[in-house]
Amino acid sequence: MRVIVLVTQKGGSGKTTLCLNLAVAGEAAGARCLILDLDPQATAEAWYHDREAATPRLVRATAGDLPRALEAARAQGFSHVLVDTPGRDEPSVAAAIRAADFCVVPCRPTPADMKATPATMATIRRLAKPAAFVLTQTPPRGFRIREAEIGLQVLGPVAPVGVVARNAFQDAQGAGLGIVEFEPDGKGAEEIRALWAWLESRLEKIGHEPQAHLA
Ligand SMILES: Nc1ncnc2c1ncn2[C@@H]1O[C@H](COP(=O)(O)OP(=O)(O)O)[C@@H](O)[C@H]1O
Ligand SMILES: [Mg+2]
Repeated sequence: MRVIVLVTQKGGSGKTTLCLNLAVAGEAAGARCLILDLDPQATAEAWYHDREAATPRLVRATAGDLPRALEAARAQGFSHVLVDTPGRDEPSVAAAIRAADFCVVPCRPTPADMKATPATMATIRRLAKPAAFVLTQTPPRGFRIREAEIGLQVLGPVAPVGVVARNAFQDAQGAGLGIVEFEPDGKGAEEIRALWAWLESRLEKIGHEPQAHLA
């Protein structure tokens, strides 16, 4: 079982959106995904309530609950746990990073988002976890993406797949769906499927490395 943690102190950067969408895409690709919602605001859980499909499953947890929740997930045969974390520095954030096989750090290509990333990366580094930034809510193309990549690469690897700002992400979430269900042939669905495939290849490599280190 692999634990993927979506983490960054910056609220609104896309943790919950990536978490839900990756879990739905993962299920569609044959994985058994559990979403673990550590955010007291429970945005992911609200989506889950609006949802009719039986998968992916979602449970809420706290920092104290986390080891037990992961143990239960393992016993139930989940292949992946995607952990959504709060956008504040709470004890559950460090607990989630500690439990991670891989940390995904969503970041918008804005100065405010980029300034907020070093603290999160410092914690990930201290706990020696593999991690990568994922650029989110980007323009479809242009210099901002490249500039953000160059800026973030100083702090850690940047995933080769980013996610463009698209209304379909918000509409899908409002309908209790993942974007691969809401608009299967759209570009957003393509981005999420590509991101899932990239994450799987990262996790596969880590599985063959003797010790965890930065991706
Ligand atoms: N790629 C995207 N395109 C359009 N809207 C997005 C995208 N990613 C996130 N959003 C929207 O931005 C807001 C914040 O995203 P969210 O995933 O909740 O961030 P976080 O969990 O990091 O606080 C939400 O309203 C969400 O629907
Ligand atoms: Mg959130």
